[in-house]
Amino acid sequence: MKGVVLAGGTGSRLYPLTKITNKHLLPVYDKPMVYYPIQILVDAGIRDVLVVTGGRNSGDFLRLLANGKEFGLKHINYTYQEGEGGIAEALALAEHFAEDEKICVVLGDNIIEGSIAGAVDEFQRQERGARILLKKVPDAERFGVAEIQGDRIVGIEEKPKNPKSSYAVTGIYMFDQTVFEKTRHLKPSDRGELEITDVNNAYIREGTMTFSFLDGWWTDAGTFDSLLRAANMVKQSREVKVEDSAAAL
Ligand code: G1P
Repeated sequence: MKGVVLAGGTGSRLYPLTKITNKHLLPVYDKPMVYYPIQILVDAGIRDVLVVTGGRNSGDFLRLLANGKEFGLKHINYTYQEGEGGIAEALALAEHFAEDEKICVVLGDNIIEGSIAGAVDEFQRQERGARILLKKVPDAERFGVAEIQGDRIVGIEEKPKNPKSSYAVTGIYMFDQTVFEKTRHLKPSDRGELEITDVNNAYIREGTMTFSFLDGWWTDAGTFDSLLRAANMVKQSREVKVEDSAAAL
């Protein structure tokens, strides 16, 4: 499976932090934000990674990440998103890179405590379709929200005023090769973007969407509050690991 990190966009919710740089280059505790989604993929055993960037600061990603030596990679692929057409438009740029393999897509502002290795393994065994990772949250209206009946997802609503569940759709998605055909049929949403939620709903209609629950904490980092929370959560989990290793001595 190949990995795709989506790190474009204007980061308008973080203005003026994003006035002169890309959101995904901002610090989250002791690392630039984009390090976290790359590490998620690498920790799941994915070695072939594409970073989709855009805007005036796209060159900074190359200077920051180079060939991925800090992640134990030999090479990182890059591509450039012109304009601000949304997550699904950014994803469409990965078609050339995917070369008919399955892909695992991580939004560049998603940070997790645990690992997605188990879900990636399950998706390797899944013949076709897609798999998403869900997390129970207190503020589901901020996210894509999954409606679950029995063991199936029957629909996803993007930022609903009255969420049908408290299961947020995290920004970690696994897709088969048909994802690119699906992105070609999308229409812009009210916010003028091609929505990843519409891609996921196409898989749901087809009956090929599966899901896992994400272990450990999860946060996005695209607003002032979530950026601060992300930094605090990373710091706390570092401290717990240091305490655990001290206790083991
Ligand atoms: C995006 C997706 C949303 C998902 C979220 C996860 O929202 O549209 O469905 O729950 O990422 O971080 P955005 O950050 O673009 O508002």
